[in-house]
Amino acid sequence: MSDFVIEGGTKLCGEIDIQGAKNSCLPILAATLIDKNVSVIHNCPDLTDVNTAVKILEYLGCEVIRENHTVIVDATCVTACDIPEHLMCEMRCSVVFLGAIIARCHKARISMPGGCELGPRPIDLHLDGLKKLGVTIKDEHGYLDCRVDKGLKGNKISLAFPSVGATENIMIASTLAKGTTTIYNAAQEPEIVDLANFLNKKGAKIYGAGENIIVIEGTNTLSDSIHSIIPDRIVTATYLSSAAITGGEVLLKKVCPDDLSSVIPILEEAGCFVKGYDSSIYLKAPDILKPVSLIRTMPYPGFPTDAQAPIMALLCVANGTSIFVENIFENRYKHVCELNKMGADIKLEGKVAVVKGVSELYGTSVAAKDLRGGASLIVAALKAKGITRLKDIYHIDRGYDNIEIYLSQLNAKIIRTK
Ligand code: UD1
Repeated sequence: MSDFVIEGGTKLCGEIDIQGAKNSCLPILAATLIDKNVSVIHNCPDLTDVNTAVKILEYLGCEVIRENHTVIVDATCVTACDIPEHLMCEMRCSVVFLGAIIARCHKARISMPGGCELGPRPIDLHLDGLKKLGVTIKDEHGYLDCRVDKGLKGNKISLAFPSVGATENIMIASTLAKGTTTIYNAAQEPEIVDLANFLNKKGAKIYGAGENIIVIEGTNTLSDSIHSIIPDRIVTATYLSSAAITGGEVLLKKVCPDDLSSVIPILEEAGCFVKGYDSSIYLKAPDILKPVSLIRTMPYPGFPTDAQAPIMALLCVANGTSIFVENIFENRYKHVCELNKMGADIKLEGKVAVVKGVSELYGTSVAAKDLRGGASLIVAALKAKGITRLKDIYHIDRGYDNIEIYLSQLNAKIIRTK
């Protein structure tokens, strides 16, 4: 198994392009199978989660061609309507294939997604939404058996929480339902808008994506489509944090600064100069970072839970105390113990993390416990004195496309061991 070996202390500087968004790419790949046509998806990041999505599409019978960052899915022939347990386990977001398989096959069988590194991630909102569209769901010894007897029917669905995955599943399934579906309290993430844009290019009639009410008029005629995945706002936030912690100066290209409207003010409060252009973002860090009074993770357009860990690493070396409140997932502070091993001073009490800035972090041996927490350890290691050996980096490969190559282009000293 590979590790990252990182020598801290070099200021990051230069320019890089930002990859396509994982959280957009996965539901869009799932949505390619809803009808008998071909989808060409550009700007797909090179990630293990994308590999898993491709494996699922192939298992279901689709023909998939991958050329660099383009994935071509020919869904003319779908031969299976289940997802084997080992593929469900490889990627929790496999559940977003449920709506697509049901739309296409009118039945689906998947294993219940198990426990997860972020704490319990129930799928009740996904299932309740699909039931409202006419799906019968039986939970049989850890497997979900789903079927639609009289066709999918549009309905009014009110989500108790604006779940990203549930909104995606309902949008995908209702695209081919009879009549109109209205999702109230829908998730408003940019990835939801990207999925709607992709489906609309195929001929779907989805209105209001990005707002809290989404209306989907069902159709039965979809066509081939070409789509390019939006930039990854969380990867952007991670590279901005990396540059900021080292006192660096970077220009990140192929990004959408508007999608970072809750992250940029935090970086500014920490003392960074940040300027967004049409499709790039510039950051110049101060010599000494300032603390940030309060960061509360919220559904979009609030501060993203996925950016909590990288920004926390940054504030470990601010000259004062910052407070975080994690409102989305229960178990999203696993990086704290590892950051403390590096010399950080973070105390946890339930949802709250109190980060007291320290003057130095120190390289040591640490392990990635989850995707974004793992990335936060890279951010910290770039600043730390000495060498950090980061283990279990397969978590990071799920969401960051060749992170060591991009960071090296910005002058970081990071290698992947064989
Ligand atoms: C998605 C993202 C993930 C991100 C998260 C929050 C993908 C593949 N994943 O995850 O990276 O961290 O949004 O922005 O896009 N919930 C329920 N019942 C449900 C569904 C969710 O109670 O049926 C709860 C969850 O436990 C959690 C909250 O709702 O507390 C948010 O979950 P959700 O928005 O669904 O996140 P994911 O789609 O899993």
